Amino acid sequence: IAYPPEPWRIKMVEPIKATTREYREQAIRDAGWNPCLLRSEDVAIDLFTDSGTSAMSDRQWSALLRGDEAYAGARSFYVFEAAVRGFYGYEHVIPVHQGRGGENILSRCLIRPGTHIPGNMYFPSTRAHQELNGATFHDVIVDEAEDPQAALPFKGNVDLDKLRAVIAEFGADLIPYVSLAATVNMAGGQPISVANLTEVCELAHAHGIPVFLDTARAVENAWFVKQREPGWGDRSLAEILLALCAPTDGAVMSAKKDSLANIGGWIGLRDPVLAEQARGLVLLYEGLHTYGGMTGRDMEAIAAGIAESVDEAHMGARIAQLEYLGGRLDAEGVPIIHPIGGHCVCVDATAALPQIPRTRFAAQTLAAAVYVDAGIRGVERGGVSAGRDPVTGENRFPPLEFLRLAVPRRVYTRAHMDVVADSLIRVHRERDRITHGLEFAYEPDHLRFFQARFRPV
Ligand code: F0G
Repeated sequence: IAYPPEPWRIKMVEPIKATTREYREQAIRDAGWNPCLLRSEDVAIDLFTDSGTSAMSDRQWSALLRGDEAYAGARSFYVFEAAVRGFYGYEHVIPVHQGRGGENILSRCLIRPGTHIPGNMYFPSTRAHQELNGATFHDVIVDEAEDPQAALPFKGNVDLDKLRAVIAEFGADLIPYVSLAATVNMAGGQPISVANLTEVCELAHAHGIPVFLDTARAVENAWFVKQREPGWGDRSLAEILLALCAPTDGAVMSAKKDSLANIGGWIGLRDPVLAEQARGLVLLYEGLHTYGGMTGRDMEAIAAGIAESVDEAHMGARIAQLEYLGGRLDAEGVPIIHPIGGHCVCVDATAALPQIPRTRFAAQTLAAAVYVDAGIRGVERGGVSAGRDPVTGENRFPPLEFLRLAVPRRVYTRAHMDVVADSLIRVHRERDRITHGLEFAYEPDHLRFFQARFRPV
């Protein structure tokens, strides 16, 4: 399987602590079988998330020194604003401390109790803010997104008939906006095509409904458009990124993903009235409207990171690394979600551990087993992440139940990917030894996967 050389060299390193199997067994027990509660120093290869965990470049580190830490009107804000405007094309740029800060503010601005939000699959923090403000989320993604084996090029696309049905059922007046994502995290990092996104916007706009895009991984989405969507192969990632944003009314961004920063985010808007409303709430919840919870140096690092994120050598190497890892797992029969997405390789836990019922959280069980085997940390994306229905209080069991191995950008080498692949292959070969699933020992009310504790059962 091809593994192109990384288009960077390593200038600074962070030691990895070696641990024994016995040590890791104790560590995961102490963490209540939740890898999120492990100390990172006890993790050898950390694939919990690609969010805020990427390696910054020497240019980003030097940009930190340019940070203007003025409370109001910092120069760094204008550098940041120009980068977001230039690469994403939104006129009004409102800084927030990270993605969910923006989700909170957009949801508060637009959602009233009893309204309905259609979208291409839920993301936990996005839906949590929509529900906290009284909306019901409706998944209008194509059916194939829920089939791990359906190797469609754009599994993040919206099924327009499903969207039409939601509009027909509730009426445009009760739909404050359509909530789109590029790529779709909970489907395994699957992209949406420019054509589909544009059609969704046309349909929504025809009913007077605005469309907001989650751009956390829109550059990864642009890469897939370039590779897979007819007519886009000769366009640069920067051009495709602008084309993805162009038909939308705004965006919420976690700069911790594509933009190669450790923290930060923004809301991008076109409507000046909504922008004024959002700035007002930023003052209450995030910080002044020219820093939004970030330091000046954070904004400088993001501005530099945005420019680096659309570099094709960077993105090509990133996606090739994921394909290498996924390809090795696939070759050895470890069930993964196809095609391989933009930020992660996902192991289909229902297929890998059929002996563990959904109510015993197969993916959480697999996550613990993989940690014990070689100190690799992934994250559950299944029943635990889905939480409970706010109305009925019942557990939600989404069709997909998987262990996500999210790869930070520019952090790990091919040898690390081999350690991950070897471990997953070993755990899968010995899967019959996994006889117990997990049940909650402690279940938090919101985003329960972060702090939950479990016991084997
Ligand atoms: N939207 C998407 C698609 C995300 O993946 C995330 C975070 C957010 C919004 C929220 O952004 O973390 O900056 O507040 N995803 C991380 C993950 C946590 O591991 O997938 P945030």
